[in-house]
Amino acid sequence: MAQIGYSKKVMEHFLNPRNVGVIDNPDGYGKVGNPVCGDLMEIFIKVKDDRIDDIKFRTYGCGSAIAVSSMVTEMAKKKTLEEAMSITRENVADELDGLPPQKMHCSNLGADALHAAIKDYWVKVGKIKPE
Ligand code: FES
Repeated sequence: MAQIGYSKKVMEHFLNPRNVGVIDNPDGYGKVGNPVCGDLMEIFIKVKDDRIDDIKFRTYGCGSAIAVSSMVTEMAKKKTLEEAMSITRENVADELDGLPPQKMHCSNLGADALHAAIKDYWVKVGKIKPE
């Protein structure tokens, strides 16, 4: 993979992904598909005092999608829901020291799945209406 321009951080998160797995009875759950390639990402969150107390992911996708999932879960852990909601696709790619241009679409999954999980929680607690 390194030959096609992956940063060391992408390789490291791809080879040793953090927060892999599922959470039983999550407070929030987000699932998104990438229309470009058909890959899928799921994010599970536990919320405590308005913060992401625990977060796990399951991804069926390319190496970049796995690195992105790992990084976005690390970035969101212990953040308030509002802070986690403001993490963008670009933030995730930047934290990974960039992705090759042809792989930038893979970074969309991470932030989108995180936001979907937070919205799911907000719908459950009545803060927002279902979309
Ligand atoms: Fe599908 Fe990267 S090629 S998410």
